Amino acid sequence: MKHIFRKGNDEKKPVLLLLHGTGGNEEDLLPLSGMISPESSVLSVRGNVLENGMPRFFRRLSEGVFDEADLIFRTNELNDFLQEAAERYNFDRDNVVAVGYSNGANIAGSMLFHHEKSLKGAILHHPMVPRRGIEIPSLAGLPVFIGAGKNDPICPAHETEELEQMLSQVGAKVEVKWEQMGHQLTRSEVEAAAEFFKKEWL
Ligand code: MLT
Repeated sequence: MKHIFRKGNDEKKPVLLLLHGTGGNEEDLLPLSGMISPESSVLSVRGNVLENGMPRFFRRLSEGVFDEADLIFRTNELNDFLQEAAERYNFDRDNVVAVGYSNGANIAGSMLFHHEKSLKGAILHHPMVPRRGIEIPSLAGLPVFIGAGKNDPICPAHETEELEQMLSQVGAKVEVKWEQMGHQLTRSEVEAAAEFFKKEWL
């Protein structure tokens, strides 16, 4: 997968896996890594799917309706890529925290739903429920931050609550930061994510 890897100053800090939103690329979330954990190594990946020229991490049938077969295929692909990248760049595969926005948060959520121990934790900005009706592996004690907007038209508040509940039911430690905003990623939300990260891992 197309990506940027930047080695951090402290190899013990979790590696940040950055996952952009629809139409973004691997450059987009790099500034977030400096705010969240400046000494961490960073692996920022570009989604392999194109929708009218816009990169994404998996196909969708329409707005908010995911192509499940492709979601599963792409989730496995990203999981395999993480293993390859860990070998190539010599980082600990078990020490990766995902930071995703929108479509990137959705594939990070899908990793948690499909691959046990694929992530050490996740920071999900405006995620949706990636899939319903499947058994989610145990996420006992796994820290998950969710940034959400009360007026988000793409991810309505009840869907955030549903995701929080699904993750909590399998043991994840979920914290939701609500704002009276829409789908955009706000600075205060990233600051809250940075606080969360510091509390859990720094
Ligand atoms: C998705 O397709 O993953 C969500 O609708 C968010 C987005 O617009 O990318």
